[in-house]
Amino acid sequence: MSSFQVIVGSMLGGSEYVAEACEETLTALGHDVELHFQPNFAQINSENQTWLICTSTHGAGDYPDNIQAFVTDLEKSDQDLSSVKFLTIGVGDSSYDTFCFAAKNLNKLLISKGFIEIVPIKTLDMSEDIDPEERSQNWLNENKDHL
Ligand SMILES: Cc1cc2nc3c(=O)[nH]c(=O)nc-3n(C[C@H](O)[C@H](O)[C@H](O)COP(=O)(O)O)c2cc1C
Repeated sequence: MSSFQVIVGSMLGGSEYVAEACEETLTALGHDVELHFQPNFAQINSENQTWLICTSTHGAGDYPDNIQAFVTDLEKSDQDLSSVKFLTIGVGDSSYDTFCFAAKNLNKLLISKGFIEIVPIKTLDMSEDIDPEERSQNWLNENKDHL
């Protein structure tokens, strides 16, 4: 069993639904889950934790407003976070050149900070007719042995 901190970046609420669907699946798999819809870097547990990033992209490849301060604090942090595991879900639209840039950039930032990427990033393209919650849940279930 693992403990998950689910860190959500969202402007319009779609990624919040995806995060809640992930919570449901992770709980069903026997893990502990805490959701952060207004992530505050200083308050997110990093001891023996797995962080699941779930963020959309807005503007031209920008972070959603609610996750911007978290990213800035993470960039500035000199904490040793090299024992924290993570995985990332990006929600975006491939009609933008900057498809899922927020998730991709945050994924790279976490790697540069020494976090352990346990599964490669999953991107969800909302220009396709997909059910992003179901896709995320299937992805977690397919990777359950790594969680
Ligand atoms: C103003 C605006 C800008 C967007 N810019 C991007 C972008 O640069 N890259 C991308 O992949 N998706 C972009 N999107 C698509 C959103 O990421 C997509 O609609 C997503 O489902 C929104 O998720 P949310 O409801 O969690 O905010 C943009 C959407 C809007 C409305």
